[in-house]
Amino acid sequence: MKGYPIDLAKAQEFLLGTIVEAGEILQKYFHFETLKKKPKGDHDLVTEADLAADCFIIKKLGNKFPDIPILTEETSVGDFEKYKNMDLVWLVDPLDGTTNFSRKFPHFAVSIGLVFKSYPILGAVYNPIYKNLYWARANDVSAFLNGRQIHVSKEVNPSNSIICVDWSHDIAWRDKTVATIQKLVGRVGHIKMFGSAATDTASVASGQIEAYAHSHCLPWDTAAAALIAQKAGAKVTDIDGKKWNVFTPGILAANPVLHQKILEFLR
Ligand code: IPD
Ligand code: CA
Ligand code: CA
Repeated sequence: MKGYPIDLAKAQEFLLGTIVEAGEILQKYFHFETLKKKPKGDHDLVTEADLAADCFIIKKLGNKFPDIPILTEETSVGDFEKYKNMDLVWLVDPLDGTTNFSRKFPHFAVSIGLVFKSYPILGAVYNPIYKNLYWARANDVSAFLNGRQIHVSKEVNPSNSIICVDWSHDIAWRDKTVATIQKLVGRVGHIKMFGSAATDTASVASGQIEAYAHSHCLPWDTAAAALIAQKAGAKVTDIDGKKWNVFTPGILAANPVLHQKILEFLR
């Protein structure tokens, strides 16, 4: 497609089929009585569902787009440098919200973004329990939820707004989340923590919540949903208001008026 070294509309068609299939894998595991899981770091875990979906998505995208590198949560070695200037790279979170999933809370999603030189140009987020499929592509008019155009909330009064914040698995970053909460308490309507960065950023796009703020997330957490939020009218920066790209730690997504007000509270 014009401007990008790929036909984005065709890639989108394939992506939507793939993410729904990956979601079906997660749905199967979600109903298992027991789920194999193991710790990942000190405060995180990985389940057999994360690994099965990761493996499926790598095979599927790898076969269809053999020249596009794939960076997935479960195969990453943690060094993103070489991906930053690539023309195209897939960013995959096979199961965003693993903790919820492992406790049978159905608030989780598969998230897949296609990134061009560190900026998302195509993205999809799918929850197979609620059958919610969000998507957006850079050269389209809007973002979509199950085929309907979606828009960010028009609410501009912080007191009427719901702001979703989130923890990093890295304990060192949690103080920043505590500070964020302290600065927002009493100034916004509600502060929530739902535990799926991809779903919660996509919920900004559909106007169900007014803002999503995370002080330190990982590229695959919000690559797809940030584009979906932008195409739905959100302003997306890092948590300090600086320019965002998929490798920026932290994110603040909200309609432009509230985005500005939240940043003022956080300063
Ligand atoms: C996590 C979730 C959570 C966010 C963490 C992420 P995971 O992803 O998105 O909401 O606070 O920073 O790492 O581990 O469930 O894929
Ligand atoms: Ca994640
Ligand atoms: Ca994950």
